[in-house]
Amino acid sequence: MAAPHAPSRLPQHVAIVMDGNGRWAQKRWLPRVAGHKQGVDALRGVVKACIERGVPVLSVFAFSSENWNRPVDEVSGLMDLLVLALSREVPSLKKNGVRLHFPGNRSGLSARVVQGLEAAERDTAANQTLVLNVCFNYGGRWDMAQAARRLVEQGIEITEDNLSRAMALAHVADPDLLIRTGGELRISNFLLWQSAYTELVFSDCLWPDFDAAELDRSLAEFARRERRFGQTGEQVAEPELAGADQRHA
Ligand code: IPE
Ligand code: IPE
Ligand code: MG
Repeated sequence: MAAPHAPSRLPQHVAIVMDGNGRWAQKRWLPRVAGHKQGVDALRGVVKACIERGVPVLSVFAFSSENWNRPVDEVSGLMDLLVLALSREVPSLKKNGVRLHFPGNRSGLSARVVQGLEAAERDTAANQTLVLNVCFNYGGRWDMAQAARRLVEQGIEITEDNLSRAMALAHVADPDLLIRTGGELRISNFLLWQSAYTELVFSDCLWPDFDAAELDRSLAEFARRERRFGQTGEQVAEPELAGADQRHA
């Protein structure tokens, strides 16, 4: 019998904290927003690489609940860039079978941005090659709170399964691999609930420099990991040693 969590060498869901755009630009004496623009190009390449490698789900952190604390110019630059990127990128994403979702708090966004997100989700809803979650105005704590609030409003019991079903990424399985670029060793309020058993890979590469070769390094690192999900290494190596769940024994 297969182990409950048979090791899969290719992650079925890759999540990325796309960090380092500002430093990439500053190193070149460019405004920070130039780094964000270059970051869109890097994302285009990583989406293509995921499709080529057969990764079915990619979730990227594009704007956090805390990024509102940045200078006004940078925040408005990021909003403008999102709208521009949608109009430029959606046609080819659509053609390449990418289904877009924008998990995050819509109520904090302008009508112009919300319309752009909704139109892109609608336009790509029939696609099946790659699910691309662009987490925008997203925070792991916001996600847990909104999920709990929805359950309470609907009179549904708060259990792990029900909370998972109410989360903003309920349409996909939890990430297998989470990559953070930019050299920082932290989660910064990304997928807090969903990354309970995710393998973490940190790269010093600044996001605009992240390419297919860097992705392959992260995938190779993932393939070397032994995922135990609470079991012993011996149980993982020999599934017949896996015991039953003894919680209620
Ligand atoms: C990540 O790059 C993109 C966003 C947070 C929107 P940063 O802008 O955080 O880049 P650094 O960390 O300042 O280099
Ligand atoms: C995380 O990067 C958010 C995104 C990549 C969108 P930050 O640059 O905002 O994270 P901190 O502030 O360095 O932790
Ligand atoms: Mg940063």
